Amino acid sequence: MKRDFVVINDFSNLEIERLLELAPGMWGERGIYPRIIYSARAEYKEMVGLFLESSTRTRFSFEIAMHRLGGGASIVPDIQSTSLAKGETLADTARVVSGMADLIVIRHPWEGAAQVMADYSSVPVINAGDGAHQHPTQTLTDLYTIKNNKGRIEALKVGLCGDLKYGRTVHSLAFALDRLGAEIICIAPTGLEMPTWVLNQVESLVRTAQLEQVIGELDVLYFTRVQKERLPGKESYEAAKGSHILGPELMSQAKDDSLVLHPLPRVDEVDYEIDDDPRTKYFEQSHNGVPVRMALIAALLDKVDKGKVLDAWKPATGKIIIAKERCGNPRCVTQHEQYLKSKFKVILRSTHKILSCYYCEQEIR
Ligand code: NCD
Repeated sequence: MKRDFVVINDFSNLEIERLLELAPGMWGERGIYPRIIYSARAEYKEMVGLFLESSTRTRFSFEIAMHRLGGGASIVPDIQSTSLAKGETLADTARVVSGMADLIVIRHPWEGAAQVMADYSSVPVINAGDGAHQHPTQTLTDLYTIKNNKGRIEALKVGLCGDLKYGRTVHSLAFALDRLGAEIICIAPTGLEMPTWVLNQVESLVRTAQLEQVIGELDVLYFTRVQKERLPGKESYEAAKGSHILGPELMSQAKDDSLVLHPLPRVDEVDYEIDDDPRTKYFEQSHNGVPVRMALIAALLDKVDKGKVLDAWKPATGKIIIAKERCGNPRCVTQHEQYLKSKFKVILRSTHKILSCYYCEQEIR
């Protein structure tokens, strides 16, 4: 059965750990790169990348990962170059492309768009970021960078700082950190706090704090930019930007062995003056996107010999029901693709049930 990677919870902890273990082997010595054993893992395989929102790191790392595995990659860099601009649905695009390619990677502004592709595609689909929902491959890269530098994830204190409402990387990362036993501390400007649909699915207690109060106790500080393109108005961007800026003074309060990460791009939230501080690892983190995505592609194409990386694991999503009520999230894919049914996951809490949209995970009640 094909496996997709739409949300981070599509993979078990064991599968994530195996992928992170596989990734270092993807690097070779400089000059003989990648290691010869992996250089043909995607030979005669074709990836289609639908990058319908701007992208530098994710797009190039997928493309380069596929080339380094010996496969081909056809990338569409904007919606205008596809028949989606003529009104073709995501479902039909998935059916057409999956009959030609072996793997589909999609980045889309609508939340749940990758889930639709996965549901209608006959080949594995990878979510490269769907609106403000999730960005699971960035999370693999983040976890890999943390593990390489700190040796573990468990019991680390990780501060997530910046736009936690619209930043998709911090949503996927919060789920993974929770499952892997790290402590999460949320640091956000007013109005851009971690949304309830994320907090309701995180098991452990999530603290909120001011950056100045907690920087001295953090093992990892994960910065993100304010997602200007997703904010409702210009004023809200002006009010939020500059609320958290990491510079030399704050860094002097951070632990000597702490780690500063950022999915990039940065705008003005991390001062160039700290780029040479050995605790900042955001460029290393971006480079790690290649071996991590090589490992992911090889695993999804089932091209890894030593033991299986992916099991037949199915996440415990609980019951899925079809309701009359539509998801109220204006960025949800169901608001745009009318043929989609209103499907909801039933999440059981100790005292009540939550209905969370099958596509974008926002709650209706
Ligand atoms: C992030 C994204 O696209 O969500 N970038 C990335 O993929 N590394 C972060 C962002 O755009 O702020």
